[in-house]
Amino acid sequence: MAVKNLDDLLAEGVSGRGVLVRSDLNVPLDNGNITDPGRIIASVPTLKALSEAGAKVVVTAHLGRPKNGPAPEFSLAPVAAALSDQLGRHVQLAGDVVGTDALARAEGLTDGDILLLENIRFDPRETSKDDAERLALARQLVELVGDDGAFVSDGFGVVHRKQASVYDVATLLPHYAGTLVAAEIKVLEQLTSSTDRPYAVVLGGSKVSDKLAVIENLATKADSIVIGGGMCFTFLASQGVSVGKSLLEESMIDTCRKLLEDYGDVIHLPVDIVVADEFSADSTPEVVRADQIPDGKMGLDVGPGSVERFTSLLSNAQTIFWNGPMGVFEFPAFAAGTKGVAEAIIGATGKGGFSVVGGGDSAAAVRQLGLPEDGFSHISTGGGASLEYLEGKTLPGIQILQ
Ligand code: 3PG
Repeated sequence: MAVKNLDDLLAEGVSGRGVLVRSDLNVPLDNGNITDPGRIIASVPTLKALSEAGAKVVVTAHLGRPKNGPAPEFSLAPVAAALSDQLGRHVQLAGDVVGTDALARAEGLTDGDILLLENIRFDPRETSKDDAERLALARQLVELVGDDGAFVSDGFGVVHRKQASVYDVATLLPHYAGTLVAAEIKVLEQLTSSTDRPYAVVLGGSKVSDKLAVIENLATKADSIVIGGGMCFTFLASQGVSVGKSLLEESMIDTCRKLLEDYGDVIHLPVDIVVADEFSADSTPEVVRADQIPDGKMGLDVGPGSVERFTSLLSNAQTIFWNGPMGVFEFPAFAAGTKGVAEAIIGATGKGGFSVVGGGDSAAAVRQLGLPEDGFSHISTGGGASLEYLEGKTLPGIQILQ
């Protein structure tokens, strides 16, 4: 069944109606300062359209993974301020999730107003495995928008989570895909259904265990899978190479070895590594061969030889999916690998290739390294969500909209 989208809702009419929107406003913070506002900016079009059409907009979102109820460091206060700036209109922040303050504020909304609820994960029912607990929270969210309310799912980054504000509310209210969710699904459908070749996949980031399923799924579909970042060391170790103090997931070594045995012609590992004594921005970088990482040193980036090799693999690709940085790009001395690979993807895109950047970290890298965002065909807001889509999994937050 086709998913209804925001235009359908606007056509039905929202003036004076309560509309609950699930956005993904989970942005990286450094001492309370937002270091990459990408997800906030991406959430604006849906909120703006609803507000301009006169809806009483109630936004729910999470920040981080608070485990023990409300905690100031996980408050959405900085996000409410940034969202107000981006929207050019005041966004109120409720002092609680579905408590007395949220209720009072929701009742006081006038047409076009936007209310952001406090971090939905302050309420443990949001992430509960117990269906009844989640449903009880969903009912309280619905109360905030009233009986003739509607639900707009716009938090693409969380559609892989079966959570109260993502999944259960859609079982209680007429539901619609927001512009962001609709755009992200369209791109992922294009990536998986009409894939022009050569198809190259670039994977990085720290945890190899997060990426094994996608490697397994894509190894038979892609022409090359380029691996860098902290996850490459478990692959190198599976070949019997000593990786010094580099990140290592020992329990995954056998799986990596098996993947290399089965798909060694598709999977490409770095040939050199930038190592340092410790994980620190001012640690002195040194380039070594990937099979000669000294004991006591840790790999913090892929080396220039690897960038060259990866660039030649990527230069003629017609389809590219990139998830995860190649190194610790936040430290300038260890950013060249990520930058080099990103530039290779931009080059391929410039020659007509279709490129998708998936994942909070790679998207943040693009912006923080000053690379042109329009050098890529699409920068996704979803890390885990886009990976799970490519793994072929059903995403609960999308399934429930259908
Ligand atoms: C993300 O950062 O990928 C999304 O916001 C989902 O967050 P989560 O992994 O904590 O559910």
